[in-house]
Amino acid sequence: MATSPSLLLVLVATLVLTLFSPAVVLASGKEQRTRIRVYVHEQFSGPNATVGSVSPSPLGANSTFGEVGVVDDVLRAGPDPSSPEVGRYQGLFAGADLADANFFSAITLVFTAGEHNGSTLSIQGKYGFPGDEVLERAVVGGTGLFRLARGFSLLQVVSTPPEAAVFQLDLVVFTPRHRRD
Ligand SMILES: *[C@@H]1O[C@H](CO)[C@@H](O)[C@H](O)[C@H]1NC(C)=O
Ligand SMILES: *[C@@H]1O[C@H](CO)[C@@H](O)[C@H](O)[C@H]1NC(C)=O
Ligand SMILES: *[C@@H]1O[C@H](CO)[C@@H](O)[C@H](O)[C@H]1NC(C)=O
Repeated sequence: MATSPSLLLVLVATLVLTLFSPAVVLASGKEQRTRIRVYVHEQFSGPNATVGSVSPSPLGANSTFGEVGVVDDVLRAGPDPSSPEVGRYQGLFAGADLADANFFSAITLVFTAGEHNGSTLSIQGKYGFPGDEVLERAVVGGTGLFRLARGFSLLQVVSTPPEAAVFQLDLVVFTPRHRRD
């Protein structure tokens, strides 16, 4: 029996909403768990573009394999373009899939305001434009308050204004509870 895609979407959305109410820190024995929700505002073209392709694929225009790009998206507290900026989503991506448009991505979340100001988180993993799906990537480290962090991140599309995209980014981050460094 096939599950309808829209039903699946509702289930996923409900699960995500349940799991991720505003930034919550939960303390367990040895680790502290922090939940973060931010919004990634990306502009594809024009004078204020936040993403750019640096080099095309050596296999030609129909392939993304070997294409390299850079990104410096705005991180905001909400999906609205006027909501407060809390940082940047900076990094690079490289086409790493011969068959499909999938990339290896390495991103630093640089917090410049709010409760995480001055700290960074590093995200790494396979990237393909999420469309209707939720894209999961690993949180592989951090700095400042997020030293020795590990966890995961979930990216999904909120809206696609002309030549732009707004993503919701949810992170669950574990950091050592009693850091001695
Ligand atoms: C680009 O950003 C500047 C500064 O925020 C703004 O004044 C301008 O209207 C933007 N241009 C476009 C095309 O969005
Ligand atoms: C890309 O693929 C299309 C459709 O298969 C083909 O018509 C076109 O010639 C290809 N372009 C390049 C640059 O390989
Ligand atoms: C963020 O931290 C920097 C460095 O401590 C400080 O200069 C800046 O004012 C802070 N920004 C906000 C919005 O709190």
